[in-house]
Amino acid sequence: MKKPLFFLFILSVVCLPMMGQVYLDASAPIEDRIEDALSRMTLQEKIAVIHAQSKFSSPGVARLGIPGIWCTDGPHGIRPEVLWDEWNQAGWTNDSCIAFPALTCLAATWNTDMSYLYGVSIGEEARYRNKDVLLGPGVNIYRTPLNGRNFEYMGEDPYLASKMVVPYVKGVQEQGVATCVKHYALNNQEVDRHWVNVNLSDRALYEIYLPAFRAAMQEGGSWSIMGAYNLYKGQYACHNSILLQDILRKEWGSDAAVISDWGGTMNTDQAITNGLDLEFGTWTDGLSDGASSAYDIYHLAMPYLKKIQSGEVGTKELDEKVRNVLRLIFRTSMNPNKAFGAMCSEAHSAAARKIAGEGIVLLRNANSTLPIELKASERPTILVVGENAIKMMTVGGGSSSLKAKYEISPLQGIQERAGDMANVQYVRGYVGDVGGEYNGVTTGQSLQDDRTPEQLTAEAVEAAKKADYVIFVGGMNKAHNQDCEDGDRLHYELPYAQDQLISALAAVNNRVIFVSISGNAHGMPWSQDVEAILQAWYSGSETGHAVADVIFGDVNPSGKLPYTIQATLADYPAHQYGEIAYPGVEKQVHYLEDIFVGYRYADLYGTRRPIKYESQGVQYVINPPKRKPTYPFGFGLSYTTFAYSEATLNGNQITVSVTNTGSRAGQEVVQLYVSDSKASVVRPKKELKGFCKVALQSGETKQVSFTITPDMLSFFDADAHQWVAEEGQFMMHIASSSADIYASLPYNYKK
Ligand code: BGC
Repeated sequence: MKKPLFFLFILSVVCLPMMGQVYLDASAPIEDRIEDALSRMTLQEKIAVIHAQSKFSSPGVARLGIPGIWCTDGPHGIRPEVLWDEWNQAGWTNDSCIAFPALTCLAATWNTDMSYLYGVSIGEEARYRNKDVLLGPGVNIYRTPLNGRNFEYMGEDPYLASKMVVPYVKGVQEQGVATCVKHYALNNQEVDRHWVNVNLSDRALYEIYLPAFRAAMQEGGSWSIMGAYNLYKGQYACHNSILLQDILRKEWGSDAAVISDWGGTMNTDQAITNGLDLEFGTWTDGLSDGASSAYDIYHLAMPYLKKIQSGEVGTKELDEKVRNVLRLIFRTSMNPNKAFGAMCSEAHSAAARKIAGEGIVLLRNANSTLPIELKASERPTILVVGENAIKMMTVGGGSSSLKAKYEISPLQGIQERAGDMANVQYVRGYVGDVGGEYNGVTTGQSLQDDRTPEQLTAEAVEAAKKADYVIFVGGMNKAHNQDCEDGDRLHYELPYAQDQLISALAAVNNRVIFVSISGNAHGMPWSQDVEAILQAWYSGSETGHAVADVIFGDVNPSGKLPYTIQATLADYPAHQYGEIAYPGVEKQVHYLEDIFVGYRYADLYGTRRPIKYESQGVQYVINPPKRKPTYPFGFGLSYTTFAYSEATLNGNQITVSVTNTGSRAGQEVVQLYVSDSKASVVRPKKELKGFCKVALQSGETKQVSFTITPDMLSFFDADAHQWVAEEGQFMMHIASSSADIYASLPYNYKK
């Protein structure tokens, strides 16, 4: 080599890494940029980028002009800014957001377009607020109605959650913001979430608990994923070699960054070797107590550095982690094509209202009580009862708590829509949770009421006697032991003696409409005594508008339940084996209902004998349910009616015609369930494998088609560790809910 060239070569090898901002331009392939940046980073810089520097950010490499990563909860809106090293809000005045409906509501739309709209809208809000990673969506399966975080997830069915999560991920990431799908995996309860080890069969893992995560990573292409707090096979999920290395990396081929849940990293050696990339929220002595600005003593900080410096561990894993973090940075904060975003726009309010309206589920409508058709000449008296008619629900619930720019309460929505056309009155009826504060964000509402329950009931009953309609807005709230993180519900029944109050109202008024603001199923012993029931979720900023839209018929309800509503807690499969199956004994929980979660269990009603089988050395005994569910999975009424006809099977194509036979435009969710008539393993009676939401004008007919593919027929063979579709006969069921089947067609599968 000639002297000047040699000199240049030495200069580039030795000096370039020390100089700033000399890396491949943004048009170069990301993997090249990663290698280039990696080659310029010092050991200390590499260590710095793999752990947090504040509650929600990790540093970049300032010397090289590589920005850090800013995360935000998620998953229903953009969390207010918090102080650098505290959970308390920073007190900014420009960080209010639009609160979107909770993910249970999104799932209840059964409309993938709504999911995409949600993703784009929340992604824009995140982008405008300069966030790179949105901590959500959550797709943990609804195993028990007691789980305090079910409202943040997408229901009991892996197929529904899989289909709904993908457009959300895409919509967010199109804005240059990463989704961080959580909590991977098996975080199905909040009680003991920090130490419970989940024991389950591979079939349950692969068939029930993993599909939505797989869809988010493979089909959605999520750029990050959050490890759960709990353990699986004795290893914490945040550094679990099976979940992260074997499944996420090898089986799913994901190149996403693995982010720990806040405080979910528990062991330095495993954090190094088992696939964690980015450590957040670690407290110094585990989870019980914290020290301030403890970032240097995070597992992936000085402890890791010291191990490298002493030669105890090499840097192979470190480089891999840094690559994954750099990839996340290049896809988000250094993405030259990222959008600018928008916040609190009219479009976002409209999106929130639309999604909320589509998610509301009409469970009962005796005597066509709903919608209430307002006529100025009649001016009915509408009595609104219940704390949830006035209580702000966007504050509370844990990390998904928000500082919403505004929140329309159900009472406001009803009053606004009724205007002068009705005499709208309000009485409290019961006092539940009067709190309204989370991390320094306050609702500003004073809900204190010192009257006794007897006084409140008497007032409500008296008023109900004179009312034309009683709209009872109750349900749960976001207080601890309700729909709230870090604790589960203690009872299946509605809290604050609402059952008694509803029955008392129904005894004096024959037009009681019950509106449940909640994210979980609850008992409804009075379900036949009230005229109408609406499941209205936590719907964020636009709650009141959406509720009024449905009550007064501006929106024809089209939501369907994303979970089964059973009569009592004992009717849920996870609650039939005692504490060993929930919440666990001595830090071990066993999913003894196996794959029979939700409707897969409810479908066994009528089976005479217990189903007994062995799987991977464990004996399973599934006792059939004693009664039908109060409301089945996939169920939801409309103000119009639909007729199904002409179901045909042609090759692999199944087609059905749906006609709107009522007088209003409406939407119907056509559902396809598959049964394996004869299998070499025990299988559920049927499983959801397709759905399609169709909009139909009055009198209109549309055809809906599904293409049958082998993956719709498969089960997970634990011994062979692979999905298997066995040859033979299957039944294809066209249905409007898991309990309303219109046509069942035999299908013969040959490989
Ligand atoms: C929750 C996560 C959340 C994180 C940051 C954790 O306690 O489990 O869902 O994203 O805190 O707030």
